[in-house]
Parts: sequence; C-alpha cells; structure tokens
Amino acid sequence: MSHYKIAPSILAADYANFEHELKRLEEAGVDYVHIDVMDGHFVPNISFGADVVASMRPHSKLVFDCHLMVSNPENHIETFARAGADILTIHAEATVHIHGALQKIKAAGMKAGVVINPGTSLASIEHVLNLVDQVLIMTVNPGFGGQAYIPEMADKIAALVTLRKAKGLSFDIEVDGGIDNKTILSAKEAGANVFVAGSYLFKGNLQANVDSLKAVLHD
Ligand code: DX5
Ligand code: ZN
Repeated sequence: MSHYKIAPSILAADYANFEHELKRLEEAGVDYVHIDVMDGHFVPNISFGADVVASMRPHSKLVFDCHLMVSNPENHIETFARAGADILTIHAEATVHIHGALQKIKAAGMKAGVVINPGTSLASIEHVLNLVDQVLIMTVNPGFGGQAYIPEMADKIAALVTLRKAKGLSFDIEVDGGIDNKTILSAKEAGANVFVAGSYLFKGNLQANVDSLKAVLHD
C-alpha cells in the first residue's frame, strides 16, 4: 500500500445523510475520513461533536481522522476515544498542556496528532514530535472549508521533513486546506503524505475527483 493517503473532509459532505456519504467514500477508495470538530470558540464556527462521530462509527471501516478545533482539547479525549476516533489531532495553540494532552491521547488507545495554524512556528511542537503519529500543517486558517491554499506553507512542510530526519522519527505529515489537483503537488513535493480535501472532492463527481488526486500522487 502506498504511503500516500487521501482524507476527505466530511465538513463538505451532506450532513443529513452521513451513512450514504461514508459508503460512497469507501467505494471511491479513500483511506481516511477527516472529521472537523469546531467549538465556536477556538474557531468561529460550530460543526459536530463526539456523538456524531459515534453515530457514524458503525457505518464505516475507514480510519476516522478527527481534527479537533476546540479550546482545551484535553477535556474531550476520553469522549472521542469512546466515540470511535482512530486518530485524534489537537492544536498546539488550543492548550497550554500540549505535551500532557498528547500523552493522554496515546493512553486512551488512539493515534496522536498535533496541528499548527499557518502563523505558528514549528518550534512550538519541536519538543512533542517524539509523541506523535501525525503532524498536521494547516494550509489555510482553520474554521471554514473552501479557502485558498497558502503556498508559503510548503517551506514549513519541508522544514518539518528535515526536523523529522534529524530526530530519527517517522510520523506522517498531513496537510489541510485548499487542496485540489493542483495544490496537492506543492504539498507532495514539500514532503506531505496525508492529504485532506473537502470542497474539491465533494463538488461534482466524487470518484473522478478522488482519482484526480491519486493521479498526481502516483505520477
Ligand atoms: C478547515 C478544516 C478543513 C476543511 C478543508 O478548518 O480543517 O478540514 O474542511 O476544506 P477545503 O478542502 O475545502 O479547504
Ligand atoms: Zn481539518
């Protein structure tokens, strides 16, 4: 299996019919389902919470990649573990206890991810990299789907690849925001291997859009 993974964001799906959406994602041959949890505090919007994740769980075998855009994520770790999250990714900016919170995610039996906003430096996560399975580099400011990819983030991804090598670690590097069949190439070349895409995939023909991302990855 390729080390490249496609993670459709269900923020852009039909919320009235998650069962159907999960089924067609599975049929389209994706790897993860990216679930954007927003609290109206860390980011302005409110999306969905752990109960929605729990009700989707019986309808999909795909990896549930939960991106918590919530303040103090350490208060919600057990709840998401019980709901069936496989990967729980939390913002370094959202807690003063990022190290402890990542330890808690591992202890709860999930894979741990850390994410930083476009304006946040890699230095803020350098000392927790040994704890994580995945680092998510935001390529838009979090809170909304459908924004434009920030090309300057390619330098941050490349610097993270260098840091990963220097530390002898092997976490995945995920990108999120504005990914389409053009911008994915910049993120891939910089060194990312997990690609979240929302509006690009769900607008028009899902299968054709997934295939167009795969075509770039396997070129
Ligand atoms: C943004 C979310 C993203 C969003 C991406 O806050 O974290 O996952 O769904 O949407 P697109 O692909 O439309 O930029
Ligand atoms: Zn996301």
